[in-house]
Amino acid sequence: MNYQEAYQKLEKYGQTHLLKYYEELTTASQEKLLSQIEETDFSVLSAIKNSGAPCTRGKITPLKALEIKDIEPRKAEFTALGIEAIRAGKVGAVILAGGMGTRLGSDKPKGLYNIGLNKPVYIFQRLIENLLDVVEQTGTIVPLYIMTSDKNNDETIAFMKEHNYFGYDKNNVTFFKQEMAPASDYNGKVFLEEKGLIASSPNGNGGWYASMDKNGVAKAAKARGVEWLNIFNVDNPLQRIADPCFVGATIDAACVVGAKVVHKNTRDEKVGAICLEDGRPSIVEYYDMTDELMDAKDENGNPAYGFGVIMNYLFKVKSLDEILEKKLEIHLVEKKIPYLNDESKPVNPTEPNGYKYEMLALDMIHQLDSCLPYEVVREYEFAPIKNLTGVDSVESARELCLKNGIEL
Ligand code: UTP
Repeated sequence: MNYQEAYQKLEKYGQTHLLKYYEELTTASQEKLLSQIEETDFSVLSAIKNSGAPCTRGKITPLKALEIKDIEPRKAEFTALGIEAIRAGKVGAVILAGGMGTRLGSDKPKGLYNIGLNKPVYIFQRLIENLLDVVEQTGTIVPLYIMTSDKNNDETIAFMKEHNYFGYDKNNVTFFKQEMAPASDYNGKVFLEEKGLIASSPNGNGGWYASMDKNGVAKAAKARGVEWLNIFNVDNPLQRIADPCFVGATIDAACVVGAKVVHKNTRDEKVGAICLEDGRPSIVEYYDMTDELMDAKDENGNPAYGFGVIMNYLFKVKSLDEILEKKLEIHLVEKKIPYLNDESKPVNPTEPNGYKYEMLALDMIHQLDSCLPYEVVREYEFAPIKNLTGVDSVESARELCLKNGIEL
């Protein structure tokens, strides 16, 4: 893209200020900036017109979960079905590791975080160990895909190599990068981070399959026979991956996606509640839960929206291909975004100063026809690490790991 073309593209979105320092840049930096402008999707900025608007949702009704009491009597049957699919090479696993982990406050990618007490135990290591349990159980290597972003790709790959993939077969590990999105002030003016660099951040975990497709990784997975992809957050060291019983139950239910869920701890716990929206599977984010929804009861007097998702989904690849062209909602996320001020000085804000633009994987559920909410025991499988201390923290995750007999 040349200067003229870049200018025209920016003009369309009211962002020509991004070329303010162009003349001051070296030729190499000019080229870099032009290619960043070419690659950047500024259309996401239009999401700003919805900021502050009340959330409009369809009609919410309950979606019945397959509860532990339903799973237990059929466990052997589901597990056998799942093992069969895994042995046939039909199941792949995808770690969503492109996030910035800002709340944790570490300058490293989250997967590199050491939760050990007496020895190093890295989050990536825990995930691989969990996946190796399934490899051992099935005698089959599950293809593993790791989504990174421009911000953490090289460090993540170097770390995995340095640790010899924690014993996983490196020929079955594929890294791919997610897309980036511009970051702006509250009026939608994109920040410059440096004179020749547009402020940007990973575009949210909802872009995972589009990125996998764009990079040719989805095609390669399908070519080797992968029909199901189990995606999950990097930040839960108890994550059970390619869990045969879960795989089998989703196949048995003839659903195109399975979602692991837990009983919500409190009516207002900060997890998305699984439900139907206008008759299709959906998730109501915790901040959209009304009192009416929180207090609603099912026919047995239990909370009608009492199951929360833990960001562990099993998607049918064929269905992902069918929704590939569909746009996901863009969410505005308030963040602290480093920028160049009017005096061309770099500023590292201590308070949020603008928006990042993110798509969420949970929004994909509503685009699909059928979903199986599958209950798991939260103490065994859910130890999210968002913060250093307190709720959903390194501290709470350590406690849960120790309870599960994991040496730290
Ligand atoms: P979170 O929404 O918790 O974000 O990500 P985060 O980046 O880890 O942490 P904060 O909000 O900055 O503190 C949930 C999961 O989605 C992944 C994360 O790596 C994590 O596994 N993710 C998030 C991506 O892969 N890409 C993104 O753009 C955002």
